[in-house]
Amino acid sequence: MADSSPITVLVTGAAGRTGQIVYRKLKERRDKFVARGLVRTEESKEKIGGADDVFVADIRDAEKIVPAVQGVDALIILTSAVPKMKPGFDPSKGGRPEFYYEDGLYPEQVDWIGQKNQIDAAKAAGVRHIVQVGSMGGTNPNHPLNSLGNGNILVWKRKAEQYLADSGVPYTIIRAGGLQDKDGGVRELIVGKDDELLQTDTKTITRADVAEVCIQALQFEEAKFKAFDIASKPEGTGTPTRDFKELFLKCTARF
Ligand SMILES: NC(=O)c1ccc[n+]([C@@H]2O[C@H](COP(=O)([O-])OP(=O)(O)OC[C@H]3O[C@@H](n4cnc5c(N)ncnc54)[C@H](OP(=O)(O)O)[C@@H]3O)[C@@H](O)[C@H]2O)c1
Repeated sequence: MADSSPITVLVTGAAGRTGQIVYRKLKERRDKFVARGLVRTEESKEKIGGADDVFVADIRDAEKIVPAVQGVDALIILTSAVPKMKPGFDPSKGGRPEFYYEDGLYPEQVDWIGQKNQIDAAKAAGVRHIVQVGSMGGTNPNHPLNSLGNGNILVWKRKAEQYLADSGVPYTIIRAGGLQDKDGGVRELIVGKDDELLQTDTKTITRADVAEVCIQALQFEEAKFKAFDIASKPEGTGTPTRDFKELFLKCTARF
């Protein structure tokens, strides 16, 4: 993708909290990108402006994804199963809320089948780079996130990541730390592997920073065929990351 003409990028989960930021940033950078979004419902499409470049499709339905990936150079996968809190939780009584997944929207269906469908459709359409956002914690099958709603979410996400790494399509797997809704571009980003960062104090990152890393990954060969954990130092400590090539060079693991 050294070509200077804009590349067409599809972001899925484009109405999600990180997906929205990616979609907006792509649209702002018209000199480099032609943005496309994929959302699950018409309501989500309206939520992000309702433009014609937003496709409505459920990723569990392989055929529905096909039109969205035609003519796409790069795919950014930001879909995810989303656990819901069971009603009746009263924080004043202490304890922990319980979570569940809606029928048919368990991580197995969304994070495994849905992700696999996207990878297959993209590969068949000749997409040249797939960026997939996942989560830190995947090396530990007993991670508490897996017991949430009995969904084994990190297990299914990891399976999809392995499928992508084995697909033959150039990829970047970004395993984010705890996501925060704060400004991006003002913190030093730290990369790691094998969940090592979870043993440190550096284990959160803003959604805006994750969105930026997704887009920067499309612009550097150094980001391809890599999988890495990512978090950031607290604002005010360290130097805000500007050199993404240098950041990707620090990532050495293929998975
Ligand atoms: N929360 C954290 O602290 C944390 C930490 C590390 C990594 N992560 C991961 O980072 C990624 C981004 O997280 P986020 O919080 O920004 O995402 P999010 O807001 O939860 O968005 C997920 C998106 O996936 C879409 N989606 C779900 N099922 C779908 C389906 N069957 N077909 C089409 N679209 C579907 C949802 O659409 P609808 O809105 O229509 O349902 C939603 O827009 C996720 O993979 C997440 O697991 C999260």
